[in-house]
Amino acid sequence: MSLASVHHRVRRLPSLRFSYRPCTSTKLTKWSLLPTPTSTIRRWSSTSDPSKPYYITTPIFYPNAKPHIGHLYTLVLGDVLARYRRLVEPQREVKFLVGTDEHGLKIQQAAAKSGKTREDGAVDVQGFCDELSEVFKNLSKSANISYTTFARTTQDRHLVAVEHVWRTLNEKGFIYKGEYEGWYSVTDECFYTTPQVTETTDGTHISKETGSTVEWSKEYNYMFRLSAFRDALVHHYSSNKDVTTVFPSQYNSVVLGMLSPASTDEPGLVDISISRPRSRLTWGITVPEDPEHTVYVWFDALLIYLSGVGYPWSGAGAQAGWPADMQIIGKDILRFHAIYLPAILLALSGPKYSELVATPPSKVLEAASIGLPKRLLTHAHWTVSQAKMSKSVGNVVDPIHSMETYGVDIVRYYLARVGGRFRDDVDWSFEQLENHSKQLQSLLGNYLLRVASARITASAAVGRDQLQDGGEAFLHSLNEELFQAATKLPGKVQSSMEALEVADALVEVLDVLKLANKAVTDIAPWSKACDPRVVYETRQTALLTLRVAGVCLKPFVPETSERLLEALGLSEAEKTWESVLALDGSERKKEREVKAVRLF
Ligand code: MSP
Repeated sequence: MSLASVHHRVRRLPSLRFSYRPCTSTKLTKWSLLPTPTSTIRRWSSTSDPSKPYYITTPIFYPNAKPHIGHLYTLVLGDVLARYRRLVEPQREVKFLVGTDEHGLKIQQAAAKSGKTREDGAVDVQGFCDELSEVFKNLSKSANISYTTFARTTQDRHLVAVEHVWRTLNEKGFIYKGEYEGWYSVTDECFYTTPQVTETTDGTHISKETGSTVEWSKEYNYMFRLSAFRDALVHHYSSNKDVTTVFPSQYNSVVLGMLSPASTDEPGLVDISISRPRSRLTWGITVPEDPEHTVYVWFDALLIYLSGVGYPWSGAGAQAGWPADMQIIGKDILRFHAIYLPAILLALSGPKYSELVATPPSKVLEAASIGLPKRLLTHAHWTVSQAKMSKSVGNVVDPIHSMETYGVDIVRYYLARVGGRFRDDVDWSFEQLENHSKQLQSLLGNYLLRVASARITASAAVGRDQLQDGGEAFLHSLNEELFQAATKLPGKVQSSMEALEVADALVEVLDVLKLANKAVTDIAPWSKACDPRVVYETRQTALLTLRVAGVCLKPFVPETSERLLEALGLSEAEKTWESVLALDGSERKKEREVKAVRLF
């Protein structure tokens, strides 16, 4: 399907398909205050300090071009985890940082290319950043991203933090001046060593890791003693923990590989250049006390995670939310987050360089007063027809247009459902999006319309009256099965989410909805032959299932969930995680005024 044809598509509502199979197999079992399946109920128990805000970050985006679907994906993952955390730990503050990475050669060049100038005729880089940063902010707002901070590297408070870190590292002996020779990629804003580069058939040199063009550069730069932290970082990523710091664990192995020497005579980790001569790069933060140098953009950008929560702190970092509990990144920026940032943090708050050599790796980690981020959720990329998205190929998927065409929640759902496994690249396809969308509309939207229909409501009322004289039996085994599955669902979803298996959490919900739809189709409560008492218990079990599904889906499709929970006539207290974790049989007896509304 071409992108053009998709652009002209409008959202269609699914048609209702009722099945009129009569209600059979009425079987009497106990419809009672069934025991709650406690084995699956895991109340939230956090070993971490609940008074420390839970802090989530996404990468800050380069505002050099309009956002694409990969950016929205990262935002949605962050938002799903932020909303989930608020749901399961409502007493705890959740901080969620997103933003834009506005310095560096890439932005400087893009601004010059845009032709945006100030009144004096100079390139208006700040104006260029302001406009594009706003586009990213609007994308976040349109997609219902519940960020608490939209941080920009051109903000004054960030400048203060970068200067503070630079000065501290310099005083502690971690910065020195040296002649730097190597390859530089403007696209990646990254230096590469010769073994990291390869020559293509046309003589161009490219990075082996990203495929971006690199050029040779020889500069007098400030260097950071990254190599001094090799052993401490190896210790950090290989020490025995229940869960790997970098998730999925395959990327933890990638990091350990980056820290290991490629051959016995290689160091494994070399010092990095953290400045560029002003003659080459003007758009950035000036190196403190040296106006001839500009701070390297990654050194600058990584510190946003600190400055975004108020670093330098006057009190304890924990009050501000540090360390980050969850950082979401793409696989292409693993090195910066898993190696550069932790090394900067260790340098900033651990022993000074002269003492570091004599300090054992585990002690280096223990001595650092600014903790390292707890988890790095690393994801693979979205491709289009198995190819990388690129402006020149013209296959870039526009997130705004996708949401306008299909609806915000449908796009969020698709990104989390298909992109929620992280391990391998996944292919974006509008056809696939439509299939997932139809499935959700049918399993959830049509299901609500079916069970809340006037006919079933009327028949259920008759059944309820008949059951009033002590009718405590489960009349249909499918309802019993569904009840069991629905009450166990929150526990299962929680297990998957705590394990960061985001797609699995959605599959758990879908499986219960499939069972629910099967039950209602098989029982056919709309049929005249169906005993009104069965109609009643079918409807009540369905409403309970919808309530549980609605709460479980809150992090993923927040607007749709809210519409559903409203339609079910639930109070705020009945929409909480706590309330669905421990549902029992009494819940099925509650009378509610339900509205048959369209969810999509
Ligand atoms: N500015 C840096 C990050 C600095 S964080 C201190 C940067 N920006 S970016 O705009 O190029 O990329 C931001 C994020 O989008 C990265 O995590 C990257 O992996 C992700 N994606 C870029 N293309 C993507 C896909 N095609 N698919 C999924 N995510 C993608 O890097």
